[in-house]
Amino acid sequence: MKKQFKISVFIFFLISIVVSCTKIDLATVNLGTVNTAMNAIVDPFAATRAAFGTNIDFTNLSNYANQGKPAYINNDNTGTDTIKDNKATLGRILFYDKNLSVNNTVACASCHKQAFAFSDTSLVSDGVFGGVTARHAMRLINARFANEAKFFWNERAASLEIQTTMPIQDHAEMGFSGVNGRGTIDTLLNKLSKINYYKEIFKVIYGDTLVTQTRLQESLAQFVRSIQSFDSKYDSGRARVNNDGVAFPNFTATENAGKNLYLTPPVFDGNGNRIAGGVGCNGCHRAPEFDIDPNSKNNGIVGIIGSTSIETNDTRAPSLRDLVKADGTPNSKMMHTGQFTTVAGVLGHYNNIPNNPANNNLDGKLRADGVGNKLRLTPTETAQLIAFIQTLGGTNVYVDKKWSNPFLSQ
Ligand code: HEC
Ligand code: HEC
Repeated sequence: MKKQFKISVFIFFLISIVVSCTKIDLATVNLGTVNTAMNAIVDPFAATRAAFGTNIDFTNLSNYANQGKPAYINNDNTGTDTIKDNKATLGRILFYDKNLSVNNTVACASCHKQAFAFSDTSLVSDGVFGGVTARHAMRLINARFANEAKFFWNERAASLEIQTTMPIQDHAEMGFSGVNGRGTIDTLLNKLSKINYYKEIFKVIYGDTLVTQTRLQESLAQFVRSIQSFDSKYDSGRARVNNDGVAFPNFTATENAGKNLYLTPPVFDGNGNRIAGGVGCNGCHRAPEFDIDPNSKNNGIVGIIGSTSIETNDTRAPSLRDLVKADGTPNSKMMHTGQFTTVAGVLGHYNNIPNNPANNNLDGKLRADGVGNKLRLTPTETAQLIAFIQTLGGTNVYVDKKWSNPFLSQ
């Protein structure tokens, strides 16, 4: 009896161990299943990963906020919308997303191409349903580093933030115009709020998934402001001297002569003929940012593409940096009319400013003696100016991945 009892106790003990082990096993398996299931549910970036792979990583963002700038660069139109890495990353996605157009065919990047300093090689750019732009697309280089805070050739956008949603609502460009049965910006906001990667990204940046116009504006503007180019031959030289006026040690004699011509105002004979001095480009395109003087009036280019009428309110140019690449290749056509394909062509214009009685907004600096300036450039001076403008071309901005298309397909 005693022995039997002992055996029973032993067997019971064994069974208990087996059962408890099984229990533990079951519990472990269950927990594992729960964990895996929870991982799948709470992976906050599943859709983002599916759309962008490793191109976008919200746990390891690209550096947009602290890129640094040369000590001699001071002009800045940022205002209160300072660049954050996460919002600029959202801006990058929006910039390349064709969903921003009414028929999913056009992104900002369709007209602003990184390989061409974010301009378009076409004279006018293709929008939705065969629409085309009225003016030539502008480069988006160093848009931030300027005193001028208004945007577009005619400065009709009061800020970069306001600018960014204007192409979206333009009937010809991205099409959310509300005209002819097309949706409005609200249609777009609603459309984007249903896309899973935006749900994830808005949630992580803003704490909720609400897609608003203000959020699009600040992130797109931050992305555009992040596009900067300061690795030109000009910058290497400028960093080694105290001001633009002295000869740059890394420049050829031709480039330094071109720089002098660019910086120095011309002297005229009283009849509009230049008799001494330089050619005065710096009076409006101001080194070292090469941003437009906010007070500039028009420069005598008053045409309208495809029309014989004129417009006289185009008083803005993007920075002249990266007008041409470091090897001298122009990025795209020049002026709002795209009427020049070379720097030589542009210089031909400034060499003989047209006396157009219909142009009541020509800048005084271009009609110093009351008539259009005649710079009387020699072929040597023209070559010197072309050589100098070529030194303003950078390299990194054309290839840096943080400004490139993040979509795996699109
Ligand atoms: C269909 C072509 C097209 C699309 C799409 C487009 N742009 Fe543009 N962009 C242009 C043209 C053309 C101009 C000059 C227009 C003018 O001044 O009338 C311009 C001008 C600009 C400027 C002004 C630059 C300056 O120096 O003043 C900015 C900034 C800009 N675009 C950003 C964007 C953003 C952001 C998007 C997407 C939301 C976008 N663009 C979509 C063609 C386009
Ligand atoms: C009075 C001010 C003023 C002066 C001086 C001036 N510019 Fe301009 N420049 C402008 C304006 C305004 C525009 C925009 C023109 C337009 O509507 O397309 C412009 C446009 C340009 C463009 C086209 C930029 C682009 O993105 O397509 C180039 C290149 C240029 N200027 C070079 C020069 C050079 C070189 C000189 C000196 C010979 C010079 N400018 C002198 C005001 C000026």
